[in-house]
Amino acid sequence: MRILPFIALSFILPIAIGQESKPAPTVTSGRDAAVEPAYDSQGRLLPPFKYREWIYLSSGIDMSYNPKPAMDGMSMFDNVFVNPAAYRSFLETGTWPDKTMLVLESRGAQGPSSINKKGRSQSSELMGFEVHVRDEAKTPGTWAFYEFDNDKPAEQIPTTAVCYSCHEAHAAVATTFVQFYPTLLPIAKEKKTLSAAYLKEAESDPKPQSGH
Ligand code: HEC
Repeated sequence: MRILPFIALSFILPIAIGQESKPAPTVTSGRDAAVEPAYDSQGRLLPPFKYREWIYLSSGIDMSYNPKPAMDGMSMFDNVFVNPAAYRSFLETGTWPDKTMLVLESRGAQGPSSINKKGRSQSSELMGFEVHVRDEAKTPGTWAFYEFDNDKPAEQIPTTAVCYSCHEAHAAVATTFVQFYPTLLPIAKEKKTLSAAYLKEAESDPKPQSGH
């Protein structure tokens, strides 16, 4: 099932319902996909199954662009991972090199279980994952989005989709949401790679408060 942070509900919901019956992807099985983007003969991205062995950037819980909850009663975590070579390059330069792959996976946020009496933990069931790819050979000068809700290769999401416009308009570094990746934001600041759009928005941002 397709779940996203910052869901533009009207776009996504009909698709999510249509895909509910497909089996969830498995991140531990499948071939040992390379840590560079790889495609099938029709140009579809092969699922990078081993992204759980990459570098972890951050998690969000119930992140939403709207102050109101996007889906009533549904609580979700998202976790972001990047391929190690791209991460190392970011540490040096404050931006992403060619062949970067960032994965965002979604998992349910579950209530008390085992010894946990309050707060939430992540479900072992994976609800799908999306990949943001920089690949000059495939899409010169731009990034591309792909979405996986089963173990099959995925076509690029059309560039007219809302994914591209939100990332372009609000993301801190090269259409990626580095403002939410705590170890990377200071590096982007130091290397002065923050986007003009982000810097302008950040001026009027309320100071983040720690949650409870
Ligand atoms: C309204 C804004 C918005 C829209 C629309 C949106 N995203 Fe994002 N996206 C975000 C935010 C914010 C994050 C940071 C998530 C976090 O911090 O956990 C993010 C992170 C990601 C990441 C992790 C890598 C990165 O670029 O930072 C991927 C992959 C991703 N989104 C894919 C998609 C796809 C695919 C779509 C469209 C189907 C989409 N997004 C639509 C706001 C958006």
